[in-house]
Amino acid sequence: ASGPLVDGFGRVHRDLRISLTDRCSLRCTYCMPEQGMEWLARTSILTLDEIERVARVAAAAGITTLRLTGGEPLLRPDIVEVVDRLARIRGVDGEPLHVAMTTNGIRLKELLPSLVDAGLRRLNISIDTIDRERFATLTRRDRLDDVLEGIEAARASGLRPLKLNAVAMRGVNDDELVDLVAFAIAHDAQLRFIEQMPLDAGHTWDRATMVTREEILETLSARWDLEPVPGRGGAPAERWTLAGETTSDGEPCTVGVIASVTAPFCGDCDRLRLTADGQLRNCLFSTSEYDLLPVLRGDASTDAAIDAVLRACIRGKLPGHAIDDPGFLQPARGMNAIGG
Ligand code: GTP
Ligand code: 5AD
Ligand code: SF4
Repeated sequence: ASGPLVDGFGRVHRDLRISLTDRCSLRCTYCMPEQGMEWLARTSILTLDEIERVARVAAAAGITTLRLTGGEPLLRPDIVEVVDRLARIRGVDGEPLHVAMTTNGIRLKELLPSLVDAGLRRLNISIDTIDRERFATLTRRDRLDDVLEGIEAARASGLRPLKLNAVAMRGVNDDELVDLVAFAIAHDAQLRFIEQMPLDAGHTWDRATMVTREEILETLSARWDLEPVPGRGGAPAERWTLAGETTSDGEPCTVGVIASVTAPFCGDCDRLRLTADGQLRNCLFSTSEYDLLPVLRGDASTDAAIDAVLRACIRGKLPGHAIDDPGFLQPARGMNAIGG
């Protein structure tokens, strides 16, 4: 088959999120237990050549954007080479694929110049608190300074828009929302608050205590006049301008909320996921995966066979997640293995 990746609900898929490893340099309580996880076997992790090949076939099927995730993507020893090879792939429009990364920022300072040289176009950095003790408690690692250095390096690099992600958590950082926005403004970055989703390895998520979009907006409104930014497209974040705040280019500053639970954007979803061990997923919350490993490693491996798995995965996509349904089942794998 050829042509774009259109699912049964007419959604055209343009965005492939590639998880490069399930390992991480932090142990955020909402993601992993303190002792870490049973990591994927090294032999099942896709090689640079395999990742490049899947991306090339996906590009021929209309994918235009790649987002590298983890675990922590910068833990991959060949990360610069991965970016370099992926950024050379061209989409059906003849343009190079747009390669972006979501990282916790550790090691970013040292790697950023090579990543930019290799063709990285954009960065999202996770930072849930700017309080050192809190950071150490939440991530179980005393590494706030490394993250701050990474964010500063990203600011200086000129990759824009620079986005910061903060999962809003009751009793953890819900008294820090305004400070986080002020921090982002000072770094020329767009902060996005994220509603916590049921994707933790410990299955401790509780809808009743989750900090909602509405609460986040109420807190921010007490400090800034918020004006909705129109034209969201398929983006997960709804955005608002912050009255009186401008970036160093004189543009209005914005803040975003990713309300995956109370205001899901599934209807506009254009995303497909590849896990570090070669499984395609059509949704963060899907309970099935489409295995590319035998196709990539089998004797008679062809690009057409990879394309067929991509299309089967898209055909199997449901209209949306069912977090609110009584029978909702949390995916067996956690965020670190799915790729966020
Ligand atoms: P941009 O292209 O910069 O908007 O990236 P992004 O926001 O899609 O990516 P990022 O990796 O920064 O993810 C931010 C948050 O959005 C994380 O909590 C992700 O899990 C969540 N997210 C990303 N894609 C999806 C998705 O398809 N569905 C849901 N429910 N959440 C998603
Ligand atoms: N719900 C929402 N966001 C999450 N992230 C990790 N786990 C969750 C969760 N359960 C965030 C990370 C990072 C992004 C990739 O996803 O903090 O910013
Ligand atoms: Fe690592 Fe991201 Fe999980 Fe935190 S949320 S432990 S940064 S993979």
